[in-house]
Amino acid sequence: MKKILITGGAGYIGSHTAVELINSDFEPIIIDDFSNSQESVLDRLEEITSRKITCYQGDCADRSLLDQVAKDHQLSGVIHFAAFKAVGESTELPLKYYRNNLVSLIEIMEFMRDHKIQDLVFSSSCTVYGQPDILPVTEATPRKDAESPYGNSKKVCEDMLVDFVKSKPGIRVISLRYFNPVGAHPSGKIGELPQGKPNNLVPFVTQTAAGIREKLTVFGDDYDTPDGSCVRDFIHVMDLADAHVKALAYLDEKQNNFYDVFNVGTGKGDTVLQVIKTFEEVTNVKLNYEIGPRRPGDVVKIWADTKKINEVLGWYPKYSLADSMRDSWNWQKGL
Ligand SMILES: NC(=O)c1ccc[n+]([C@@H]2O[C@H](COP(=O)([O-])OP(=O)(O)OC[C@H]3O[C@@H](n4cnc5c(N)ncnc54)[C@H](O)[C@@H]3O)[C@@H](O)[C@H]2O)c1
Repeated sequence: MKKILITGGAGYIGSHTAVELINSDFEPIIIDDFSNSQESVLDRLEEITSRKITCYQGDCADRSLLDQVAKDHQLSGVIHFAAFKAVGESTELPLKYYRNNLVSLIEIMEFMRDHKIQDLVFSSSCTVYGQPDILPVTEATPRKDAESPYGNSKKVCEDMLVDFVKSKPGIRVISLRYFNPVGAHPSGKIGELPQGKPNNLVPFVTQTAAGIREKLTVFGDDYDTPDGSCVRDFIHVMDLADAHVKALAYLDEKQNNFYDVFNVGTGKGDTVLQVIKTFEEVTNVKLNYEIGPRRPGDVVKIWADTKKINEVLGWYPKYSLADSMRDSWNWQKGL
């Protein structure tokens, strides 16, 4: 069974990917410092998979910890999720974001080089496209100046990976540009666990429905979109997890140095108001929401062209927006 190091494996996307790796006969080895997750996720993973989960608590930029993991386990590849991701906070504390997001990747690359680990899947983001001029965005769509230090950290990470691959024989890397991950494991045992006030729409929706937040504000309903609210490409986290497994399998087929990027989205844009409507329909819960002013810096509309990932990796999403809302609500109710 091939062992894959997953940094940030106790987090939202990492934990779901751990499940999908086990379902595909990989063994995930997690490193997480629990800066944005809880240790209890590991028990939940064991309940879902009926398997013992190996996790090292600590900073994935700590080279001695990485070396210890490599001593204990023969690693076939790495999925690097660990990063800070709050866009708003990154504008206030840019160095915190650059330190964690850039330094951790540099340490991971050096670690791979020294231990002759060839394969890496990196968590990038559609934020690298900014507000694109043409929709949907393909991987060839030019990246724009980042709107935030967080977005810039993803761009710089992508650039560092390109240079690393060029410099080192045998290194194979895929950057996955995630669109908007939503939903939770259908068991309701793991899901997105925001610390404090959520930054993302769907945890805000479910927390408002649960009465934790008084009301949800929709930022603008006068944009040039079907109902005036912003458009995003909402991708179920289990589909996103599956894309990592497909990416690893694809890297394994490559002989030499390899770098590529793939969009991971559904290929369909949904508005914020459609998300609210779908949530209400699926759950029969009425949401207390209001229309507020536009939020500065918001991308108005973006969704993915998914032809490349469909054709090259053979990956297709299986879950709908309604599935995502059902699973997110189940997870929230469990909390
Ligand atoms: N969720 C999204 O909307 C989204 C969209 C695009 C890209 N991404 C990227 O996907 C990745 C995973 O995102 P997520 O939503 O699962 O976030 P998350 O915060 O839930 O998970 C990240 C995990 O990494 C851990 N971590 C952070 N820094 C660490 C470090 N230095 N050492 C060890 N552990 C560390 C945190 O404790 C957390 O468990 C991130 O790189 C993020 O930027 C997320």
